[in-house]
Amino acid sequence: MNSLSIKNLSKQYPNGVKALSDISLDISDGMFGLLGPNGAGKSTLMRTIATLQQPDSGSLFFNGIDICSDQTQLRRQLGYLPQEFGVYPGESAERLLNYFGILKGIDSNKERASKIREVLELTNLFDVRKNAVSDYSGGMRQRFGIAQLLLNDPKLIVVDEPTAGLDPEERRRFLNLLREISENSVVIFSTHLVEDVTELCQNLAMINKGMALMKGTPPGLVGHIDSKIWVCEIKAAELDSYKAIYHVLSSSFTSQQKVKIRVFSESKPSPDFSATNASLEDAYFIALQGVRVDHAY
Ligand SMILES: Nc1ncnc2c1ncn2[C@@H]1O[C@H](COP(=O)(O)OP(=O)(O)O)[C@@H](O)[C@H]1O
Ligand SMILES: [Mg+2]
Repeated sequence: MNSLSIKNLSKQYPNGVKALSDISLDISDGMFGLLGPNGAGKSTLMRTIATLQQPDSGSLFFNGIDICSDQTQLRRQLGYLPQEFGVYPGESAERLLNYFGILKGIDSNKERASKIREVLELTNLFDVRKNAVSDYSGGMRQRFGIAQLLLNDPKLIVVDEPTAGLDPEERRRFLNLLREISENSVVIFSTHLVEDVTELCQNLAMINKGMALMKGTPPGLVGHIDSKIWVCEIKAAELDSYKAIYHVLSSSFTSQQKVKIRVFSESKPSPDFSATNASLEDAYFIALQGVRVDHAY
């Protein structure tokens, strides 16, 4: 079992932005989702785990390796896919993987060839291995990103917003691939989409403004707010007055003039409301709005 331990991590950029604020997380094998809106600090946290930048304070250990001081040792076990990555135009997947394999120190031609075949098959790119990666679709390109990071058999895999821009089918396929490779390694991936973390993540943390707001399993996080979510259909024009009185989490139009609102409340807000099943999205909105929910921290 691999384990990543992040303790009291903080980081402020020279421009004064506090990107990470006392973040502590314990992560072991499996898929871990880092959910947060733009600017939450996800990429900062991931670059820190990937040894590309140093925190101001706090510690990070992976299987006993101090990530801040033993960068070389950590990188041998690391697979990192940044939010944006470029590929050399016109180069085939197979040639690029060969190049990366050499860079990663797989010196034996035979060993490299067999590893390349293995990662191409795992990511379902074997049939298109001769095609230029620059001509790949978004989903294929992201899978190629996974293929290249798997070359050194990483035990710690960090993937930053991999599903952004993928269509629903590609997204599902990509997340399933992450799940497959997370059986014997720690996979941390970030996203701003609740649906990415709902089904496939064993654990997740919701972060905003550099702070870890809630962490736990998807059912656990939903369980904490179960029987506290209420719905009511109101006139669209009344929305602001409801927001002033109730803790409105979200609203959606049901017709031209009417909206259905979801409200967080310990008890039934008024006779007009009815109970509904809590969702992970409700938990996320509660976290973003900074409401304390007992035990959910
Ligand atoms: N190199 C940097 N210099 C200054 N501010 C930065 C830098 N990188 C990120 N930030 C700021 O830090 C905050 C967190 O950014 P980031 O980690 O990229 O969040 P996310 O990946 O969740 O969108 C944002 O306010 C962003 O503008
Ligand atoms: Mg980011």
